[in-house]
Amino acid sequence: MVNDAQTLENLHTETRSFPPSPEFAEQANARAEMYTQAAADRLGFWREQAEHLHWDTPFTEVLDWSDAPVARWFGDGTLNACDNAVDRHVREGRGDRVAFYFEGEPGDSRTLTYSDMQREVSKAANALESLGVTKGDRVAIYLPQIPEAVVSMLACARIGAIHSVVFGGFSSDSLRQRIDDAQAKLVITADGGNRRGAHLALKPLVDAALAPSEANPTEAESVEHVLTVQRTGQDTEWTEGRDVWWHDVVEPASDEHTPVMVEAEHPLFILYTSGTTGTPKGLFHTTGGYLTGASYTHRVVFDLKPETDVYWCSADVGWITGHSYIVYGPMINGATQVLYEGVPNAPHEGRWWEIIEKYKVSIFYTAPTAIRTFMKWGEAIPNKFDLSSLRLLGSVGEPINPEAWMWYRRVIGGDRCPIVDTWWQTETGSIMISPLPGVTAAKPGSAQVALPGISAAVVDDDANEVGPGRGGYLVLDQPWPSMLRGVWGDRERYEDTYWSRFKGLYFAGDGAKRDADGDIWLMGRVDDVMNVSGHRLSTTEIESALVSHPWVAEAAVVGAKDETTGQAVVAFVVIRDDSEAANLEHHEVAVALREKVKSEIGALAKPRTVLLVSEVPKTRSGKIMRRLLRDVAEHREVGDVSTLANATVMNAIRDNMESGKADDD
Ligand code: PRX
Repeated sequence: MVNDAQTLENLHTETRSFPPSPEFAEQANARAEMYTQAAADRLGFWREQAEHLHWDTPFTEVLDWSDAPVARWFGDGTLNACDNAVDRHVREGRGDRVAFYFEGEPGDSRTLTYSDMQREVSKAANALESLGVTKGDRVAIYLPQIPEAVVSMLACARIGAIHSVVFGGFSSDSLRQRIDDAQAKLVITADGGNRRGAHLALKPLVDAALAPSEANPTEAESVEHVLTVQRTGQDTEWTEGRDVWWHDVVEPASDEHTPVMVEAEHPLFILYTSGTTGTPKGLFHTTGGYLTGASYTHRVVFDLKPETDVYWCSADVGWITGHSYIVYGPMINGATQVLYEGVPNAPHEGRWWEIIEKYKVSIFYTAPTAIRTFMKWGEAIPNKFDLSSLRLLGSVGEPINPEAWMWYRRVIGGDRCPIVDTWWQTETGSIMISPLPGVTAAKPGSAQVALPGISAAVVDDDANEVGPGRGGYLVLDQPWPSMLRGVWGDRERYEDTYWSRFKGLYFAGDGAKRDADGDIWLMGRVDDVMNVSGHRLSTTEIESALVSHPWVAEAAVVGAKDETTGQAVVAFVVIRDDSEAANLEHHEVAVALREKVKSEIGALAKPRTVLLVSEVPKTRSGKIMRRLLRDVAEHREVGDVSTLANATVMNAIRDNMESGKADDD
């Protein structure tokens, strides 16, 4: 719920405004008229955007909403995503343009042109076909941020197979859950990846995921092969008949392959994301509408000039940002990009700025968490590098606080680059709310306005639009081409999660406020989803990982404000009296619990703070009152406890927290 306190807290008035410079406005891809044009004829506007793609069979119908909330966009057209992202550029004489400057963490680099990409994806597509993968089959991809990740995704798209990329930071249990749910036929992985000078193993996690385990008594039945890229040269166990090396099957394959044209509504990919309840949801996107949204937004929001810009999105391809703004949007627009394998502080804290200097990056897209981390490290570090090539900066993943916005503008953008704060979600497929560079006067901390063609509203509990300065729920009230088409195999869950809260409106799960100018400010999730470093985590998922530890009787997890990561995971845990944990130091227990979460979900979900408590606060009907725990975790006065079954429980919890009994990572 967006409670009053939260609304009021965010009711500050932002008076700073950064109008576009006349020079930027003059050359911008975006035009103010786009808003009026799209408002006057929304479907005509989307038709025009879709016509930027190469269609094998041109569509005649724009939108069919008769099966709402499942949309059909451009339903009678056919096309291929890889053909649009790669072959088309070669066909039209752009084959020599660099598609990727790849920078490995150990310092190795590779340059791949669009012609190189065409050869690579063709070889990979032939190899996938030789492994029996065909149109409609699902392929799980569990790779580091290396060119083969992009090639694998595009090779799937080329043959009409549906990729499901699983971020390399997820555990083998999480990987297995996703493989089973999607019934993946093939897993593409690597022996390992590079992290801060060390080798991270990936293939052993795939082996563990596929093998019988405590959580899964049987082998993963759907998987026929594991295709493994050699990245680190680590020793790797091998299952004959199942495992194949990339260099044995992809390298020798023919570099000619004809893309398989698919219907516009053919699924392109599944991506799993945390929800409020149960297991992660397999959200899926289809081809024509998704590609329309990703390429249109990339063109206008990032102002891409493909002949001259060098674009870098620092996200991992394992997240939606990597799908839409590394692979599909930029490649369809013929962008030259940087792809970087590693972290920002290896081997030194200036690594990102060094990369920007080296490749003369002109457009840079990253997350507020990264910006706040750089602020902490100090501006002397970026100041050592020549960042004068930059001309536009983007932010995504979580609300950006005005201080971080101002720092980003001044220190990284030299006070000359427009900043686009882009609000969107895995579900929306592409950016929904953002300033348009060259058009919008930017306001630090606000994502501001729905893009032309997109219709957003902030509503109260009864679905009425709120007035200026009021908080409410963010909804999208018109279908859009890149909207998710559902939860894989579960239409009911799709309808329940997104369309039942407000009839006929897409409920995003975010709180928002309109200011006096009508600009939108995002205020964070209003459900039990946390946003840690721009990664979406579910409180209930982490709670169930904790209670699966034999020491744990009960657990309650909340997201608490954190200066760097936006939110941090704080766990309140009740230990069983009869367990050995009763005789251990608090810290030892906390370490073991963090390990448990890491092995069940992945390192990204590990609680920052663990507090052992004797009871968690519950209502008389047994519902955990996370609101009160959040007060404790954020060191605020504890709110109304009148609905608690045991009103005194909060005193003990608060006293323990305030007396420093919590274990911090
Ligand atoms: O809460 C919003 C937040 O991230 C959520 C979506 O997470 P995910 O599906 O993982 O996609 C992240 C990358 C698109 C949203 O519900 N969020 C994302 N961008 C912003 C944001 N919150 C505020 N401002 C943003 N620019």
